[in-house]
Amino acid sequence: MQIVILADAELIAKYGADLIQKQISAKPCSVLGLATGSTPVALYGELIEANRSGALSFHSVSTFNLDEYLGLEGSHPQSYRHFMNEHLFNHIDIDIHNTAVPPGNAVNPIDACRDYEASIEAKGGIDIQLLGIGRNGHIGFNEPSSGLSSRTRVKTLTQATIADNARFFSEGEFQPHLSMTMGIGTIMDSRKVVLLATGASKADAIKATVEGPLTASCPASALQMHRDAVLVLDEAAAAKLSGREFYKHTERENQKLLAQLGI
Ligand code: PGA
Repeated sequence: MQIVILADAELIAKYGADLIQKQISAKPCSVLGLATGSTPVALYGELIEANRSGALSFHSVSTFNLDEYLGLEGSHPQSYRHFMNEHLFNHIDIDIHNTAVPPGNAVNPIDACRDYEASIEAKGGIDIQLLGIGRNGHIGFNEPSSGLSSRTRVKTLTQATIADNARFFSEGEFQPHLSMTMGIGTIMDSRKVVLLATGASKADAIKATVEGPLTASCPASALQMHRDAVLVLDEAAAAKLSGREFYKHTERENQKLLAQLGI
């Protein structure tokens, strides 16, 4: 794992956007794995800005989102399809037909999950997958106890996740308890993973992810087995890492080496 600790959320958004920009520059028809939640919103702002300025085009890019609420149509304001349209797709030059979010309103969600996996494979797999992390260590909607090799499927949300996401729903509004989510195995197959985490509420989950055992009790700990996972953290999210100073030192050494090599 590469662990990058930065001063604030703005630097994290810029760092993450830069990785995505580099990926698209190297391969214009890149396949991006995208995430919802509050953490990636600023990063999407950076991508929109880069697209507006002409520095970055999404013309040939395809995307797959991690997850969706089961039972919500894409036009529903609480759906993740709607979120993605509002926070990214409507503002960039991407072909909307090349953007995929699991279909929350599928008549047969089990078949739809299988089809989602097949579509990712048909595009040649995900080049770079963006992730947030739940306070309980979930990635996508892979809650604790999710199989470490799981594929896209229907998952039940924990009370902790329902409570965390309640802030997005108004009082009395229907809040789904089920989801369709890429599995941990699906995420592990992506060629690069970039996980962003900010704030003290994520510190325990980050500690378990980086320095805890590899366990389904902390789904993000599976990233210990990923060949190219980057965790981009602010000081508060990194606060409980015992190796914090070593990770900072390692990152400085990495940067020196890349500068020497002109990369
Ligand atoms: P957040 O959600 O970005 O809103 O904190 C992250 C997650 O639950 O994966």
